Amino acid sequence: AAAREAVDRAVAAHRHRPGALMPILHAVQDALGHVPDGALPLIAHALNISRADVHGCVSFYHEFRSAPPGRHVVRICGAEACQAMGSRGLQAHARRSLGIDGDHGTSADGAVTLEPVYCLGNCALSPAVMIDGQLHGRVSPERFDALIAACRS
Ligand code: FES
Repeated sequence: AAAREAVDRAVAAHRHRPGALMPILHAVQDALGHVPDGALPLIAHALNISRADVHGCVSFYHEFRSAPPGRHVVRICGAEACQAMGSRGLQAHARRSLGIDGDHGTSADGAVTLEPVYCLGNCALSPAVMIDGQLHGRVSPERFDALIAACRS
């Protein structure tokens, strides 16, 4: 019911704009924390597009999540400047230490969701990590572990 309400509100606010799909998806995610699968046919129907189109958009754009996030959302920058400073290794370290398979997922205890991001605007302090909206620069694997421990405590 919450999903239907969120979709109805988002559709009513944006359906008459060109390119309504993106703002509708953002509004649904803002309201629910994610875009549930059940919302896709409702959005498709409202915009008179196929469910596959809606699904394609949700899966193409990294900012949309299809499952509720963990208590903390951690984004490790994977764009060029950060890659040059070792963000790939940091991502691998994060996946290992959180027990998350792939670049998108939540630790088994539901504490931490890892999400990919491309440039946090903090390139001078690469590699950059955002934890619950707060930016951290020059994050080594050791510092990453300390930041995660702090948010788990
Ligand atoms: Fe990582 Fe810009 S490339 S913050």
